[in-house]
Amino acid sequence: MGVIERYKEFLPVTEKTPVISIEEGDTPLIKADPIAEIVGPGYNVWLKYEGLNPTGSFKDRGMTMAVSKAVEEGSGAVACASTGNTSASAAAYAVRAKIKCIVVIPEGAIALGKLAQALIHGACVIAVKGNFDEALKVVIELTDKYPVTLVNSINPYRIEGQKTGSFEICDKLGFVPDYHVLPVGNAGNITAYWKGYKEYKGAGKIDSLPKMLGFQAAGSAPIVDGHPIEDPKTIATAIKIGNPASWKQAEEARDESEGLIDKVTDDEILEAYKFLAGKVGVFAEPASAAGVAGVFKKAREGFFPPGDKGKKPKNIVCVLTGHGLKDPDRAIKCLESPPVVDANLEAVVEAAGI
Ligand code: F0G
Repeated sequence: MGVIERYKEFLPVTEKTPVISIEEGDTPLIKADPIAEIVGPGYNVWLKYEGLNPTGSFKDRGMTMAVSKAVEEGSGAVACASTGNTSASAAAYAVRAKIKCIVVIPEGAIALGKLAQALIHGACVIAVKGNFDEALKVVIELTDKYPVTLVNSINPYRIEGQKTGSFEICDKLGFVPDYHVLPVGNAGNITAYWKGYKEYKGAGKIDSLPKMLGFQAAGSAPIVDGHPIEDPKTIATAIKIGNPASWKQAEEARDESEGLIDKVTDDEILEAYKFLAGKVGVFAEPASAAGVAGVFKKAREGFFPPGDKGKKPKNIVCVLTGHGLKDPDRAIKCLESPPVVDANLEAVVEAAGI
């Protein structure tokens, strides 16, 4: 069962809405003690592993809604600009809906796995000589002028679907986390999660709200720096965005929740990326690691008040937005190549250091 079926009472769907689903959602919430040890005593850390969605990222939650509503409204085509994951998701859901998918990507700037996905699902993939922000501008113009539905997160149905992530976290934990941590790019996801928490509280399902902690990459941190970044830079290509579409909503989530939006350097992102894979056993893409890098940074700064002995632990949930296999080049680039030895026992034993 996908997120529309599971949470339809909270979603703008009716009996007539054709549900286009690939069984998205219901992703694991993994306890990450090695991260909690760094935060300090009295804390639990949980990883919402969105990389286990059907196309390997959180985008599927929003795409099931956006594509279902597009079909309900009679649309025969969807389009998006993308740093990779949105395009992979849109392409797959368009296949399920039997409609056309147009994807506009910044040339040479999306991870290999994501490009492979959009292509294999048969999307019409167009690379533009520009960055994500420029690609988005073109797609907005395209969908304004032609009968094609925009499925970037400016499409309100995307936010509706993505807010189901908050519901799942509360349902699985049985309580509300104290801190909700996530990377921020175009800022749709922080908007969606905050909306989800508020609606769950409004419905009486939960009785408190988390503080939202968002993290941008230092070279692409318009919200933190307070102005659009013309030429954003970061190895976390998914969040290489200089002028987020949901900027204002992200600030609202930050302020209403008494949280923060901060930035982390590429070195910090890579450290968290390797820590997740090497110490927690969870492989997430670099952008996803930005949230965890933020937790490490804030822990170093003493942001998290020490837990009280004997009291209930505080809970931090980090959303790991995309699977590590999306960007295999990055993993290989930041590690040493394996040694090549002769194909005999002695050589392998020696190389293995047994
Ligand atoms: N993490 C990953 C893996 C992403 O792909 C994105 C966004 C984000 C975080 C940031 O989420 O934009 O809602 O703040 N990717 C978009 C795309 C922009 O085109 O795939 P956001």
